[in-house]
Amino acid sequence: MPIAALVGTQWGDEGKGKITDVLAAKADVVARYQGGNNAGHTVVVENVKYKLHLIPSGILYPGTTCIIGNGVVVDPQVLVEEMRYLHGHGVSTDNLFISERAHVIMPYHKVLDRLEEQARRLKIGTTGRGIGPAYVDKYMRSGIRVSDLVNPTRLRNRLEDFLPLKNRLLREIYGHPGFEIDQIVEEYSSYAEVFRDRVADTSLLLDEARRSGKNILCEGAQGTFLDIDHGTYPYVTSSNSSAGGVAAGLGIGPNHVSSVVGVVKAYSTRVGEGPFPTELKDAVGDLIRERGQEYGTTTGRPRRCGWFDAVMVRYAVRINGLTGLAVTLLDVLDAFRSIKVCVAYEYRGQRLANFPTDLEVLRECRPIYAELPGWQSDTAGAQRWEDLPAQARDYLSFISQEVECPLQIISVGPRRNQTIVMAEVFR
Ligand code: IMP
Repeated sequence: MPIAALVGTQWGDEGKGKITDVLAAKADVVARYQGGNNAGHTVVVENVKYKLHLIPSGILYPGTTCIIGNGVVVDPQVLVEEMRYLHGHGVSTDNLFISERAHVIMPYHKVLDRLEEQARRLKIGTTGRGIGPAYVDKYMRSGIRVSDLVNPTRLRNRLEDFLPLKNRLLREIYGHPGFEIDQIVEEYSSYAEVFRDRVADTSLLLDEARRSGKNILCEGAQGTFLDIDHGTYPYVTSSNSSAGGVAAGLGIGPNHVSSVVGVVKAYSTRVGEGPFPTELKDAVGDLIRERGQEYGTTTGRPRRCGWFDAVMVRYAVRINGLTGLAVTLLDVLDAFRSIKVCVAYEYRGQRLANFPTDLEVLRECRPIYAELPGWQSDTAGAQRWEDLPAQARDYLSFISQEVECPLQIISVGPRRNQTIVMAEVFR
């Protein structure tokens, strides 16, 4: 009864949506354990490009159960929009279940996210989706859960408890008009009606699936370096996006997780603010951006691009206990004559092999590069390891050795069939 976790090893956008979609072919259950609609997953199936932010991309397989776990923050408006978007494409959501313990992103969370970001001297570059403020309320014990949302009386009671203080904050600090309880209850109850029958004790569903030997895929959003504890704080999201978040965010025992696959781009990207040692602010970075179509799925922002950073990924291997790597977007590097990999940092004359905690140190770190020959040929049609050009295989083997983690999956394009599976995650 394998439970596999899939996590991002960089700053998000590693192509987890595509890898989830590939693994979902053999998964009976796909479950999201943290984050919210700050994530963006693009999956291409039979020439149709699906963009999802909240619902696990496993939904595109009719027989796969999809779970939005208790660790996720749910924007009901977005959930309803995505359900309708899927229905419009003939995709059923009858296999979707939402944890009754998941916290709800309320309209004031979205407004506060933007107002707080504007007021901040140090900009985080949040997605403005209300993620941070919703998690703040969860930990302040002032949150509204899905179980409250589906009961209009409870929703009203919770709002009577919390909204007056939110409105004072909005009005007195930010000059915003605030929100009316009646209006929120009416609008949010109408969303709840759409998915009321999908709300469940998802920990129990997962336990039943595990006991009956089902394959379960736990899908992380964002990446290790956006993790609230292990990322480049404060330039992080507000949840545990690393593998440590799986057990708490789904209500399963950590001992049941049998493998952890780290999704990693063949290079690096970052959206938003914060230090990025291998960033390329030149024509090479621009070429990576254009070839990789590196623009945010959620916000459309151009992503910052740079070479593969083995120091970072080595750290991700340790933090997540990775058992295999899924390398994505290899084909983006097809055009380069030579390719660099950062193997260590240089900090004030010292060589650092480990990722530093202190952002001030990180800011001063200069990458020490190994340079490898490019392959300058098309990899997009490769179906097996042997089909890849020798230089591409050498490049992949080099990064695997540098980060001390075996290669498991190689992705050479957005389609399902552009995937080389070296070791199966599910039998
Ligand atoms: P928040 O999650 O909206 O609070 O944003 C916090 C930081 O995480 C910002 O730098 C965002 O750009 C980044 N971020 C959040 N979600 C994603 C994602 O799915 N991919 C990449 N970056 C993300």
